[in-house]
Amino acid sequence: MELNRRDLLYKCMAMGVVQLGWGLSPASAVEAWIRSENMARAATPIDQLGPFYKKGAPNTAVLRGAGDPGLPLAVAGAVYSTRGEPLPGAKIEIWQTNHLGHYDLSGYRYRAALVAAAKGLYDFQSVIPGHYPARTCQHIHFLVSAPGHKPLVTQMYFGSDPVFKGDPAKNPNDDCPSAELVRPILLTDQPDTMTASATFELVLEAL
Ligand SMILES: [Fe+2]
Repeated sequence: MELNRRDLLYKCMAMGVVQLGWGLSPASAVEAWIRSENMARAATPIDQLGPFYKKGAPNTAVLRGAGDPGLPLAVAGAVYSTRGEPLPGAKIEIWQTNHLGHYDLSGYRYRAALVAAAKGLYDFQSVIPGHYPARTCQHIHFLVSAPGHKPLVTQMYFGSDPVFKGDPAKNPNDDCPSAELVRPILLTDQPDTMTASATFELVLEAL
């Protein structure tokens, strides 16, 4: 596939629809073009904000309390622009239900506001959220903002959710707008301290 892209770029140069500035050889131009294309990332699909967002969540990466029921969940990822640049300093607000499918409406349990670190990295500790009557799929809400970029409102879903019957691509659900938002779950450690982990990349469009 990449070979085809290279061939096409050489053809564009031969036809004159792509022209090279001074000092650029066709080979170096093609390699640089391919490299920058590969760095580009598709914007993360958007999803609804929902009625349970609350401003003022604490800046903590540990949402799970000691002794909280539910399967421990570690989420990690990074915030990027669609050009593939990391966005350190991006603000990431997260909210989800507890294991039983309840949102904390009076306080800030299972709510957090994080700041992306160097290289745009973020991570947090939580539990797999429960189901609740208004929604079919388990999910975690995200609101991500960074200077010069459109705020991203989205949700992360779980490949292990019974709704997807083990195959989110084959068994999509109207409650989840994109299979890209359904993340595979990795189980680690011993059975008595088992933790589920997932990665979730957040890609913001420029303003
Ligand atoms: Fe929700």
